Amino acid sequence: MNELDLFADEKEQLLAEASSLRQEIRHHEYLYYVLDAPEITDSEYDRLMVRLREIEATYPEEVPDDSPTRRVGGRADTQFAEVRHLEPMLSLSNAFSETELRAFDERVKGGLPAGSKVEYVMEPKIDGLACSLIYENGRLVRAATRGDGVVGENVTANVRTIRSIPLVLKAPAGETLPELLDVRGEVYMPRHAFMELNERRAERGESEFANPRNAAAGSLRQLDPQVTASRSLSFFAYYIVGEGAQPKHSENLAKLTAYGFKVSENYRVVQSIDEAIEFIAEFDKKRSTLAYDTDGAVIKVNAVAQQNALGATGKDPRWAIAFKYPPEQAETTLEDIDWRVGRTGVLTPTAMLTPVRLSGSVISRATLHNEDFIKAKDIRIGDRVVINKAGEIIPEVLRVVIDKRTGEEKPVEIPSVCPECGWSVERQGAEAAIRCTNPHCPALGREGLIHFVSRDAMNIEGCGPSVINQLIDSGLVRDAADLYTLTKEQLVTLERMGEKSADNLLAAIAASKENELDKLLFALGIRHVGAKVARTLASIYGSMDELLNTGMLELAKISEYKKEAKENKTEDKFKDMGEKIAESVVTWLSVPANQDLIERLKAAGLKLTFTAPASKEDNPFFGKTLVFTGTLPTLGRAEAKTMAQDVGAKVSGSVSKKTDYVIAGEEAGSKLDKAVQLGVKVINEEEFIKLING
Ligand code: IVH
Repeated sequence: MNELDLFADEKEQLLAEASSLRQEIRHHEYLYYVLDAPEITDSEYDRLMVRLREIEATYPEEVPDDSPTRRVGGRADTQFAEVRHLEPMLSLSNAFSETELRAFDERVKGGLPAGSKVEYVMEPKIDGLACSLIYENGRLVRAATRGDGVVGENVTANVRTIRSIPLVLKAPAGETLPELLDVRGEVYMPRHAFMELNERRAERGESEFANPRNAAAGSLRQLDPQVTASRSLSFFAYYIVGEGAQPKHSENLAKLTAYGFKVSENYRVVQSIDEAIEFIAEFDKKRSTLAYDTDGAVIKVNAVAQQNALGATGKDPRWAIAFKYPPEQAETTLEDIDWRVGRTGVLTPTAMLTPVRLSGSVISRATLHNEDFIKAKDIRIGDRVVINKAGEIIPEVLRVVIDKRTGEEKPVEIPSVCPECGWSVERQGAEAAIRCTNPHCPALGREGLIHFVSRDAMNIEGCGPSVINQLIDSGLVRDAADLYTLTKEQLVTLERMGEKSADNLLAAIAASKENELDKLLFALGIRHVGAKVARTLASIYGSMDELLNTGMLELAKISEYKKEAKENKTEDKFKDMGEKIAESVVTWLSVPANQDLIERLKAAGLKLTFTAPASKEDNPFFGKTLVFTGTLPTLGRAEAKTMAQDVGAKVSGSVSKKTDYVIAGEEAGSKLDKAVQLGVKVINEEEFIKLING
């Protein structure tokens, strides 16, 4: 054999090895991600991957697109392309009671020839987001979100990173794979992944996701698939569209399983609406033990021919309905009340509970809001209480179980001194809140700093609450100005702070010096000064010096100014602020310690000026009225609002005929419905950013 042949032979061998490695890896991924029953250890799996990567690196031109090494590919563009669904992606109407379920059954039977026997399939309603996956000859070629049901977004690159979604389908024995297959199902984030993600986000000072559904949606709509890949998403398949479908839905579920999809093991075929109702009651007991959130059960007519005969009304099929469980509740004992001081000095009571399971997590604390809340519900220490959690992270005490009182319960003592510093507390006028009167209360420092670095304020990344706590506890930082004196040597002494994170943090701190004055004014945490008032002040005075020199005098006389403006019908430059805010600003600026803080921030090189944005008449949003609704995937609400105001848009809280644009994020609710009703233009965050940047 000559040398060339030898090479060719070796190549062939290696390619054959690669191909069998891929098979093997796919099989193990299936066992791990779909069946949740791995047969090899993680390191054995890693070894297979390393070997495959090694061979693929030698022959990069021979690597198929569906190799397990190719799950994470290139970035999406600035926007996800719109794609038209092959068949509309329907939604489901809801039933909240047995009566409504029976009415559904009646409607189904009424829509079919008299005497038809109807079988139903019961499935968990997974709380995630619907996705359509298109397979051509068994290969995943496209994945899209539901969008408006007709047109969705192309999220293929991100969906490929979800390990329970096969890139290549398994061919069931003796069958060839369909040329075209449209599989529908739910992308979701398991509870443990959701909790871990939120912990990481809190550490970094990023906002937490409200629930696994939002987290899944946010993770799927990332421009960088690497980010999606890091988010532990999963997928349940629950529907095969049109071609490729079997005569019964339950057969489709079996087929999906055979193709290698994860199908919920909790589905059941039932023969009557009574059995369906039974399933719903049984599943309610089970669902809190599942690794993922469910918000109901779906009931579907099993026979596809019957489904077709029934058809759909608008966006909802007549052959299926979602039963929604009421928000979960649990009963436990309120052991004590913990009063915490927030950044504005308000004392907030938290109920310390005997740990109890609720919606899949163990709850040991619940918010009590304020003194009035405790009084209104007559909450006492030692009470049995009912708590609920309706899509919120923080559970709430709903009511006291009065019947279970033993007489041992103790009335709640409202603190008369601050738990942090021992100074007296006060309750002002009609305010429900009680506050610490110590302007230098240590709690203010800690919470104030957490606010100072937060995204809508100075936006210092990598400086989450745990970093702030360590900085304060180690004595490195007492107030905001100290942040600007930190050195790398100091930072690396903190827990979990490597050289790289320290460099990044220092860079973020340095970059924050360039923020416009309005960000700083908001960051300082002056009572009643939100992002909007901060902006007004910054744009009126243009610099901190001017605010101190002229502003304080003018603000102290704001009521006279307003009166005059009204009498003379001149424009009120303080239009978004009143006396209460002005007084709070003046008081804050008069405190010597605060003036000192400003001096030190100035010495640290902070900008402390405000430049009004350039001419904005050309901007498409100039003079337009915008309404934001839902959670925007990347922008904070205050940030988006400021951006809009910067270009001369008016931001309103409610939708009317006068609204020009509604910018809708995740979980947009009634405002979005109203916009659609009124025919107001609805855009998403990406379109908003694109338009605003011209
Ligand atoms: S069937 C025509 N089955 O619930 C079939 N949907 O509220 C329509 N969902 O958009 C969907 N679990 O995102 C179906 N087992 C399940 C489901 C399910 C969750 C979601 C899906 C749908 C929404 C409707």
